[in-house]
Amino acid sequence: MKKKILITGGSGFIGTNFINFISKKNINIINIDKISKISTADKFKKIYYKKNYSLIKNNLGNPIKIFNILTRFKPDIIINFAAESHVDRSINDPVYFIKNNINASTNLFYSYSKYYKLKKIKLFHISTDEVYGSIEKGDFKENDAYEPSSPYSASKGSIDLIATSFNKTFETNIKILNLTNNYGPYQFPEKFIPNLIFHFLNNKKAPIYGKGKNIREWMFVEDSCNAIWKTVTSKKKFEKINIGSGIRNSNLEIAKMVFNIMKSKNLTNLNSNNFLKMVKDRPGHDKRYALNSNFFNKIIKYKIKKNLYDGLKETIFWYIENSEWHSNVNKSYNFKRLGLID
Ligand SMILES: NC(=O)c1ccc[n+]([C@@H]2O[C@H](COP(=O)([O-])OP(=O)(O)OC[C@H]3O[C@@H](n4cnc5c(N)ncnc54)[C@H](O)[C@@H]3O)[C@@H](O)[C@H]2O)c1
Repeated sequence: MKKKILITGGSGFIGTNFINFISKKNINIINIDKISKISTADKFKKIYYKKNYSLIKNNLGNPIKIFNILTRFKPDIIINFAAESHVDRSINDPVYFIKNNINASTNLFYSYSKYYKLKKIKLFHISTDEVYGSIEKGDFKENDAYEPSSPYSASKGSIDLIATSFNKTFETNIKILNLTNNYGPYQFPEKFIPNLIFHFLNNKKAPIYGKGKNIREWMFVEDSCNAIWKTVTSKKKFEKINIGSGIRNSNLEIAKMVFNIMKSKNLTNLNSNNFLKMVKDRPGHDKRYALNSNFFNKIIKYKIKKNLYDGLKETIFWYIENSEWHSNVNKSYNFKRLGLID
């Protein structure tokens, strides 16, 4: 019998890449996504066995519906990607973020806890390094305390706590995967790297928050998909696992790399001395994220394949070659600055 996998938020950036990636395997995939303006329509997905895939357009906030989907589809694995994910938007509308993210995952966990009585499957919940907050030196381990700085990361941190509470109270088997910053194809242009690409392509100086010294750990999304797949199919025991690349760069370094690649390929007319615009910093902007992925490296043994230069180059060319996708998503985005408090 073919394995069945239920993905939530499978029309977002990582979810779309993940579904494309696993569609090559002989498994049935069902995707529950509310389809928001940042979501990728199915016609843009590159799904290998189309008949093995279906989308249910639904908000996870409805527990009865989710339980019915679970009992009808009978998944063998659940992976929860669904969340509102842009920090700046969470500053503009914190109440919406907290409500959406916490309701969606809690309702999913609750439906899963009932389904778990019928079938003992695992639910993998995708979390972020942002839950730990900022770290000047060193890196965060799985059992370090959570000190989130934005409404987005606080909502994600809360969900992680809810997940572990479900494992205790309902004796479920939810596993938390804390990922670092991803980049690559299908990322909505309001996020840092596609935002740079679109500014440079349009010969406009790209905005950099503050002094551009904030450091993030970067992982090419295809590596994340591989790492997630290896983790969810592993027989190793864990409740929580950090999945990072160790590739840590400041926003300024990333912007320079993206610009230099584009300039060397004649993709921008901007001047090499004048391609950035320093703008007011994000409120509560974390200085540095760094994950300790020793546990992942020890038990999963997946080696990150893509270095930053190759990953950025591939990403830039993906955006250039997929103009139909971006003219479609850009209809709902005007590149206006978000996340400032007046
Ligand atoms: N992108 C990153 O760098 C990164 C890093 C670490 C962790 N994460 C986490 O990984 C997950 C996926 O991130 P992403 O960048 O693909 O996000 P995204 O914003 O691109 O996509 C999220 C998807 O979830 C859907 N969704 C949101 N709320 C929903 C609800 N109530 N019901 C049904 N669907 C809903 C959206 O419609 C969207 O299609 C998120 O949980 C995010 O917190 C992302």
